[in-house]
Amino acid sequence: MKLTRRSLLASASALAVMPKISFANEDVEVLEARPSAVSLVPGDYPETQVWGYNGGVPGPEIRVAQGARIRRRLVNALEEPTTIHWHGIRIENAMDGVPGVTQDAVQPGGEFLYDFEVPDAGTYWYHSHYNTTEQISRGLYGALIVEEANAPEVDHDITVVVDDWRLGEDAQIDPDFSQIHDWSHAGRLGNFLKASLNPALSEVKQNQRLRLRFICVATDRVMRLAMVGMEGMVVALDGMPLDEPTPAEMLTLGPAQRADVIVDITGATGEPAMIGFIGREQNIALASFDISGQASLMPRGEILPLPANPIQRLTNIEGAQSMPLNMEGGAMGGLETGIYKGKSMSAEELIQNGQIWTLNGVAGLPDEALAEVALGETLRIPIINDTAFAHAMHLHGAHFQEIMADGSFGPLLDTILIERQETREIAFTASNPGDWVFHCHMLSHQAAGMITWVRVTT
Ligand code: C2O
Ligand code: CU
Repeated sequence: MKLTRRSLLASASALAVMPKISFANEDVEVLEARPSAVSLVPGDYPETQVWGYNGGVPGPEIRVAQGARIRRRLVNALEEPTTIHWHGIRIENAMDGVPGVTQDAVQPGGEFLYDFEVPDAGTYWYHSHYNTTEQISRGLYGALIVEEANAPEVDHDITVVVDDWRLGEDAQIDPDFSQIHDWSHAGRLGNFLKASLNPALSEVKQNQRLRLRFICVATDRVMRLAMVGMEGMVVALDGMPLDEPTPAEMLTLGPAQRADVIVDITGATGEPAMIGFIGREQNIALASFDISGQASLMPRGEILPLPANPIQRLTNIEGAQSMPLNMEGGAMGGLETGIYKGKSMSAEELIQNGQIWTLNGVAGLPDEALAEVALGETLRIPIINDTAFAHAMHLHGAHFQEIMADGSFGPLLDTILIERQETREIAFTASNPGDWVFHCHMLSHQAAGMITWVRVTT
């Protein structure tokens, strides 16, 4: 670093306020998982008892520059074990937060230091990976934003975390997280949708440009979202920039999926601009902004692609190992037998063990990996959804691409929504060694069997 008078003065004053002795951990920010109460439902409803990081839901937004190091000490103040998974980050395996696979679960009163670099810019999130349906339903998640060095210019950069809560009349979370009916159908769907915006925004001006970072944290619900009074483009999916942005009128986000959109306010003064949920029976306004006046007379210019991330993409899949993944089970699925914990079981026995779904005939995390690939090798996974429900398959530690019908490669994703009775093929070139789980992010389905893993060897 070149020393200048200004930088010297700055570091001198920085020294003055630094504590003289720093103990290990002292400078590490804490994420404490603990019970708390938040005001979730507007109006006269009481506060909702939740579990949150540092007491909030969502937990604190983590925002860092691309390439930075994140260090967080997880402190477990819950009465059950927990861990944190950093969803979508190409992370060192030991930091991936999967209990029993990459670390031991953090016991009540215990701690764990997460310490990793973030190689890719984009919109990610963090969440519990222990007793996941319940812990995420109760609020253990937060946004993780990695900023580009050359971010596009916008007037507001807003994280929009969308959740689906199942609440009783008293605004409290329904404490039954393992209803067999939910698990065997579309999962635990809620009755109260909420978008948390950070920072909050109430007023906009015509021709202002917004970047909205949508994160679907619902355990099971697929969110169909629409934007009114604003027009623009989807510029990234699951954190990764699209080569060619696509129009952003409607977004479909399965559990865990993200979309970055850049939109310009096109509505007129006095009209609201809105983000809405498009439901089967009704549409719900999740956020609305008053439009007051004009930011400029002229509309903003073209929306350009975001700078690409330094991630390896598919180039050629010829000769690549292919490992099909068959999804079976669930209601109307006709599952007769499956292997669970190494034993072959009838459908009734599986249900007695809370297992309803299988991947290649196995319910729950198998002893053997679905596939083993060496660094630099490409793995193709045709996913055959032979069930009556949609599934959102998520691979840890890597982004994959879909092999499209015409042989081209789709955008980089970490979670792919596969409709019922659909077959879609994904592939990725292994670049991150370790054991990586691959599971349905409809977390009720994961709990009821839909989880496997892939080993990347060095
Ligand atoms: Cu976002 Cu294995 O999870
Ligand atoms: Cu599923």
